[in-house]
Amino acid sequence: MAGDTKFLLWLLLLSSSTLCFGSELDIQCLKSVQQSVIDPVGVLKSSWNFSNGSDGYICKFIGVVCWHPDENRVLALRFGNLGFEGSFPQGLQNCSSMIGLDLSSNNLSGPIPPDISRQMPYMTSLDLSYNSFSGEIPSDISNMTYLGLLNLQHNQLSGQIPEQFDLLTRLTTFSVADNLLSGTIPSSLRNFLASNFVGNKELCGSPLDECSDSRKETGGISGESSIGAAVGFILGFVVALYFSRWFICSKRLRAYVLHI
Ligand SMILES: *[C@@H]1O[C@H](CO)[C@@H](O)[C@H](O)[C@H]1NC(C)=O
Ligand SMILES: *[C@@H]1O[C@H](CO)[C@@H](O)[C@H](O)[C@H]1NC(C)=O
Ligand SMILES: *[C@@H]1O[C@H](CO)[C@@H](O)[C@H](O)[C@H]1NC(C)=O
Ligand SMILES: *[C@@H]1O[C@H](CO)[C@@H](O)[C@H](O)[C@H]1NC(C)=O
Ligand SMILES: *[C@@H]1O[C@H](CO)[C@@H](O)[C@H](O)[C@H]1NC(C)=O
Repeated sequence: MAGDTKFLLWLLLLSSSTLCFGSELDIQCLKSVQQSVIDPVGVLKSSWNFSNGSDGYICKFIGVVCWHPDENRVLALRFGNLGFEGSFPQGLQNCSSMIGLDLSSNNLSGPIPPDISRQMPYMTSLDLSYNSFSGEIPSDISNMTYLGLLNLQHNQLSGQIPEQFDLLTRLTTFSVADNLLSGTIPSSLRNFLASNFVGNKELCGSPLDECSDSRKETGGISGESSIGAAVGFILGFVVALYFSRWFICSKRLRAYVLHI
């Protein structure tokens, strides 16, 4: 939990830079998303008008969820089922306080960025399901240690599920069903139901059938024990960030955080 506390304070400091010094980067992020995504239905073209410029104007854009309605600071992007095409959106790195991304049920294709954790390190929820993403699942996702939800089902992902996913101890929702994956399921993911792994011809090991060349199982980490901790952490995190508006600009807190 010490790690969580430090992370929380660090994130408060991070977000304080957008609170106290403007939120140009979040706006830059959305402009970059608008330019990089193919939007045949025109959802972004019709609702994302950057000419207003008032506090919180981006919070009214379709798909944008802000930390606070009067602040141009992105909490999450919800782009489920908007008919998007093309590759993974670009420039998300500049949405530096973002903790959730939903791209589900679009027609996006190409690889998942191999440096995805550098672009969005604090993600608690990442939903890329029901698209046409291909290539391997980046092992770098294991660096997104705050992930509670990771939905990758119904894409064209191939290769193995990275062993490093053992590091994702906060996962409570996980699916890679209906892809082209192969190999053994990492031991830490074996508490998830088989339905989260089905539809991959070459995937094997518990909770699916044993692998034919049955490798010896290594000891798994129990997912259950971390669920309570994860919920508590996320709750504290949301409350703290929500109220950060009123105290984060205080010099004493900033000095304290910097001291850590
Ligand atoms: C954006 O809004 C401004 C004023 O509200 C309007 O003049 C402009 O035409 C709009 N731009 C687009 C692309 O809709
Ligand atoms: C921006 O939008 C707000 C709320 O929709 C509106 O009250 C305000 O007049 C707009 N400002 C400009 C410059 O268009
Ligand atoms: C983030 O915003 C800055 C400043 O506008 C810009 O120079 C940079 O290219 C952006 N980064 C990405 C990854 O788009
Ligand atoms: C996805 O794109 C393909 C062709 O590029 C098209 O045939 C299909 O209808 C699209 N699916 C959706 C859900 O938009
Ligand atoms: C995690 O991030 C570090 C630093 O960016 C990188 O060197 C490492 O390869 C990443 N881990 C994985 C499994 O990709």
